Amino acid sequence: MSKKFYITTPIYYPSDVPHIGTAYTTVSCDVLARYRRMLDEGAWFLTGSDEHGQKIEQASAAHQKTSQEYVDYIVEIFKNVWKKLNISNDDFIRTTEERHTKVVEKVFLKLLEKGDIYKGHYEGWYCISCETFWLESQLVEKKCANPECRKAVEWVKEEGYFFRLSNYGDALLAYIEKNPDFIQPLSRKNETISFINSGLQDLCISRRGLKWGIPIPGDDQHSIYVWLDALTNYISAAGYLSDEERFKSLWPADIHMVGKDIIRFHCIIWPAILMALELPLPKTIFAHGWIVIGGEKISKSKGGYKNLLELIDIYGADPLRFFFLREATFGLDMEFSEEALIRRINTD
Ligand code: ME8
Ligand code: MG
Repeated sequence: MSKKFYITTPIYYPSDVPHIGTAYTTVSCDVLARYRRMLDEGAWFLTGSDEHGQKIEQASAAHQKTSQEYVDYIVEIFKNVWKKLNISNDDFIRTTEERHTKVVEKVFLKLLEKGDIYKGHYEGWYCISCETFWLESQLVEKKCANPECRKAVEWVKEEGYFFRLSNYGDALLAYIEKNPDFIQPLSRKNETISFINSGLQDLCISRRGLKWGIPIPGDDQHSIYVWLDALTNYISAAGYLSDEERFKSLWPADIHMVGKDIIRFHCIIWPAILMALELPLPKTIFAHGWIVIGGEKISKSKGGYKNLLELIDIYGADPLRFFFLREATFGLDMEFSEEALIRRINTD
């Protein structure tokens, strides 16, 4: 089997229905996949849903549903919206599927055996909305360090498992240096380099007492940190440790497309995990800009945007797809308004 061009979107949180921000990433990947197929290279296009963790647990509770019921419901909506947008994904991975959870367990055990994961104590801050651990020194006015979030953080003091991220700084810098196309665009590459240069700390990769997560094999007081769980989708869906033949025909991914909000996870944590697993790194991680309204990032947690399905119904899938890729330079932020959409369609 010859290697297929393997493209991924982030797997989105089904904490709420998809919006134009998530559609933007998915459409850009769809265009790449269709282009590669036209070149007869063959493409394999993956998207999916990131279903575990405290954020989903909270959203489910707020809707008086069990987490499983809630994600089942939202994921159906995601699938339906992607169909309406003519998204040609070859697979849709859900992190609650056994084909995924089994691989996450194996990855965890592999890293534990190698000594890349060790048990210790975590003490610090946690932002549920971003599912991110922060150092005291990173907080801004005691709030989440992510400028697009700035929500209240909670103090976490618990026994935990750690990934030896601090061991991988030099190897990451060397890899980035040697592979100029690895992180794109250049601004994101520079951001990554300066983050690594500021010093990498070992990463807590478990949550004690979290019910809605993959239990740590042999220690079910803890669940696997949702980002380790989520990032593994890129290899679990490709057959890692389950279908080596298929895995060989897909991995390494040719492009992980992500928004610039999640580059630390994709450009530092994920490559370090792959190095620890002795797997090749993705060829490119491309971080595009945000769709903003009045300068503010559209997000599930903020709301305030027109329903994506409504936009598709009014303007049609193709005009919306066209707008996404035509309106702004890919990589930079893009202002969205219905007026701009109408203007673009009418003039072009
Ligand atoms: O971060 N403009 O999921 P998420 C452009 N589950 N793109 C946007 C956007 C906007 N305003 N808002 C969202 C997660 N996006 C994790 C990912 S991957 C192993 C785990 C897009 O539901 C963009 O691609 O918060 C961003 O990176 C992604 O949605 C975040 O989706
Ligand atoms: Mg988000």
